[in-house]
Amino acid sequence: MTAAASTARSAPDPPYAPGAHQQPHWPEPGELTEVVRTLGSLPALVSPDDCDELRLRLAAVARGEGFLLQGGDCAELFAGPLIEPTRDKLRCLADMAAVLSSGSGLPTLTVGRLAGQYAKPRSTYTETRGDRVLPVYRGDAVNDLRFDARGRTPNPQRLLAAYRAANRVLSDIRRLRSRNHTLFTDLGGDFFTSHEALLLPYERALARAVPVSGREYGLSGHLLWIGERTRQPDGPHVAFAASVCNPVAVKLGPTATRTDVAELVELLDPHREPGRLAFITRLGASAVHDLLPPLVDEALTLGSPAIWVCDPMHGNTFTTADGIKTRRFEAIWTEVRGFIAVHQALGTHPGGLHLELTSRDVTECMDAQVPGREFRLDLRYETACDPRLNGSQALELARLAAPLLRPRTELMRDAVTLG
Ligand code: PEP
Ligand code: CO
Repeated sequence: MTAAASTARSAPDPPYAPGAHQQPHWPEPGELTEVVRTLGSLPALVSPDDCDELRLRLAAVARGEGFLLQGGDCAELFAGPLIEPTRDKLRCLADMAAVLSSGSGLPTLTVGRLAGQYAKPRSTYTETRGDRVLPVYRGDAVNDLRFDARGRTPNPQRLLAAYRAANRVLSDIRRLRSRNHTLFTDLGGDFFTSHEALLLPYERALARAVPVSGREYGLSGHLLWIGERTRQPDGPHVAFAASVCNPVAVKLGPTATRTDVAELVELLDPHREPGRLAFITRLGASAVHDLLPPLVDEALTLGSPAIWVCDPMHGNTFTTADGIKTRRFEAIWTEVRGFIAVHQALGTHPGGLHLELTSRDVTECMDAQVPGREFRLDLRYETACDPRLNGSQALELARLAAPLLRPRTELMRDAVTLG
């Protein structure tokens, strides 16, 4: 037995994340231990310097001097015909960023929901089709979308495949940066990655301390967020986010309270550093006006410089009579508009948008119906998880939102100049 193996076996902190919500039922804990040990020996996926750079850029957003556009698939796939080339994903975000920047007068910082978005929280443990009941799909890092018993059994080897898939996307980005200067100029000069930090064994295995300073970073992606279902202030996901120096975000759904905001601010940004913390609200088009003000007010009371980001997707999902999960474009736009209106009324900065989108011409989110014609979701419904905006819907949302994002002072200045 090698020294490394004996160390791993007697390690006092097994990687099974006790008490963590939304963890798969791995059938082979021993295999998970081995996988985690391998992940721990692999090079980090991103660098601490780049995480610091993103924090600096986000600090400008926190001061109201920029706007964050975060977007990508609900669930990235490792491979297959539905996978979208990285270049197309970046082009779609770059086009939106250009529209947002020119319409709002603020620079747009683009962060992909990619190169790591391989794990999904789910509302049920199983999925039933006919008389067959199997474990639910939890993202490519856990099991296979294909509905068969073998594919749906959580497989720890997939964590290694997730690492390799993320690495491929990051290499694509580096290649594009060196060769496609126009794309990167349109992206605002740089591009960063983000995903939900859901699978704690994976995230912890890729957390590394920087020599000398000893500061710990989660090096699976630049910005890591904690989802609505795992954001308990006393839970292990928030503890993980508190332990790393990356910029971090937390999703806030309709049940979030002032107390949640207060506790999360104290745990995640005790020193009130602009660029460290973002709250991504996903409250629903009809609830945003009532539910957002107290949350923002609590942060203001605490002197928190947290960035406020609107996810208009996850509070507006419903299932059609045919059993297809979808969202109406109108509801998505209504939540964005409500989010901006609330911030403008409070004098705070509507800092960004968090979107599930693809450049592909999918039919996953419903457009306004043409009278007499039904909207056909089944034509090109390709998502592995939640419905995404297609390329033209995404651009349309940017076009609608951009003029509303112009800082008030600038609007007043324009009015004076024109008057
Ligand atoms: C998601 O972003 O895909 C997601 C599951 O969101 P939330 O945590 O807000 O439900
Ligand atoms: Co989703």
